[in-house]
This record gives sequence, C-alpha cells and structure tokens, in this order.
Amino acid sequence: MEQTVYLNGQYLPLSEAKVSVLDRGFLFGDGVYEVIPAYKGELFRMVEHIQRLNSSLGNIRLALDYSLEDWRTILQPLLDSNKDQYIYLQVTRGVAPKRDHAFPRDAVPTVFAMCSDLQHFAAKDSGVKALTMDDSRWEMCHVKATTLLANILLRQHAVEQGCAEAILVKNGKVTEGAASNLFAVIDGVLTTPLKNEEILPGITRDVIIELARNNDIAYAEKTISLEELQAASEIWVTSSTREIVPVVILDDAPVGEGKPGKLWTQMDGLFQQCKRGMNE
Ligand code: PDD
Repeated sequence: MEQTVYLNGQYLPLSEAKVSVLDRGFLFGDGVYEVIPAYKGELFRMVEHIQRLNSSLGNIRLALDYSLEDWRTILQPLLDSNKDQYIYLQVTRGVAPKRDHAFPRDAVPTVFAMCSDLQHFAAKDSGVKALTMDDSRWEMCHVKATTLLANILLRQHAVEQGCAEAILVKNGKVTEGAASNLFAVIDGVLTTPLKNEEILPGITRDVIIELARNNDIAYAEKTISLEELQAASEIWVTSSTREIVPVVILDDAPVGEGKPGKLWTQMDGLFQQCKRGMNE
C-alpha cells in the first residue's frame, strides 16, 4: 500500500503530494525541518523537537502559529504503533508569485510531513570510520535549515573515502558531524562542544548529557581542538536516526583501541532504555 503523507492540511498518497515549482523551498531552500524519532508510535522528545522547530522558524523569520497539540494532531496519524519510525517534517516560506530573493508579502507557508521506517544503523555495532574536514558551512548552523548543500558535499566526500561521517573543524576547533553532533572522551571525561551558532543543538546530544548527569558519568561541554580529538580515547557521532555511533578510525588512525569503547557500551545501553521510556 502506498505511503500516506501530510501536505498543507491534507493526508495524501505520496505520489499525489505535489508542491508548486514556485515554492521557495524548491527555488531557494527557504525553509526549515525536523527529524523526530518515534518508537512504537510514541514520538521521542517531541516537545524538544517542536521547540527547536519554533526556534528555527523564528531565526529565519517565518511565522507559523502551530501549537504542540496542533503538531501532535498532524503527526499522530502518520505513525504505526508496531514500528520504530521517524517523522521528517518541513516548513517552507511557501509559494510566491515570482522568484525574488526578498520575502513575498502574503505567502502561506508550505507544511509537509512524512514518516519512514527507522533502520537500525548496523555499522554502529562495530564502529565506523570518519574523516576530519574543514567546516565550510554558513554562520547559522544552529538553524535546522533545509539548505544543506555544504553538509551534503561534506558527507558525500566522506562516503567516497569509505567513511560514515565527516567531522567538521573550524579554525582548529571541532564543531560537529555533517549530520550529527560529536562527543569525545578526553582524559576520561565525556566532552562535547558547547552549544552556539556553529552547531545544531541536537536532541540526542541533550539526552546523552542528561544520561551522563543522572548516572554519574563525568562530562563537560567545552571547546575541543583538533589535537584533543586526535588524542581522544573514544569518539561518537550522534543523531536521531543513527543514535550513538562510535568512530573507531579517524583519518586512517585508530581511535583508542580501534573498537567501540567502554563508555560507548554503557551510554548506548542507557540510551536504549531511555528511548523505550524506561528511564525518562
Ligand atoms: N540531522 N548536527 C547536524 C548538522 C544534523 O544534521 C543533525 C541531525 C544533528 C543531530 O541532531 P539530533 O540529535 O536532534 O537528530 C546534529 C538529521 C537526523 C538529518 O538531517 O537527517
């Protein structure tokens, strides 16, 4: 049976969901998005994801007056309570009468949502390779914008080098992955870069910090230099779709013992409990 998606107030078969070529999402990438995991029909950290969406909308000056309950009403029918899935939702500035960089006057935002099965990221269990690359993105990386060209080119380059992720470095400091946040175990302390405009404030990142705090795991939010990263005993990249992925080879050199570390095993266990609602 064909997948049902949500578009501008309607539930439609995927093949019937159509957007105008004058939509500013298509022409300019003028929009923002969210990716929200749902375990057995329950949206995980829904409040935080919608808060981040609202913050992204505010940052690009796109007015959309949807409450948390409105979103719940829209998204719930897309979910299947027997599956682990994720919602992709996108809001663009809508269709304008002509292509013009400046905002159109009366455009109605385009609101789209679809649900996909969450595949277990198999490579996670044995750990992945990553490479460091210059962070070539813009200065508003805290906004979850659909304009992802730099991220796409970075990830593609990493994939072509047999890596699962590009780890981005700006002025000698590590920011995050092309589509993930970053953690490193430095001198025994679980460390992650501070939240600022250079990184997306990841929801998975927040869950990990919360789990560290609640389980007496030493952690720090602070700047990580490239040298510190290279000397780290563990490196993880984290996201809603891949969860916590240990990096075991960085730029062709083993990370720690070249296999997923002890702290990763502990944190992954805590995360699995948390996502099933056993530890929230
Ligand atoms: N991306 N940083 C970037 C640049 C990201 O694209 C993502 C996630 C994250 C992790 O955020 P979270 O833990 O809230 O998923 C960090 C999603 C999954 C994507 O673009 O598909």
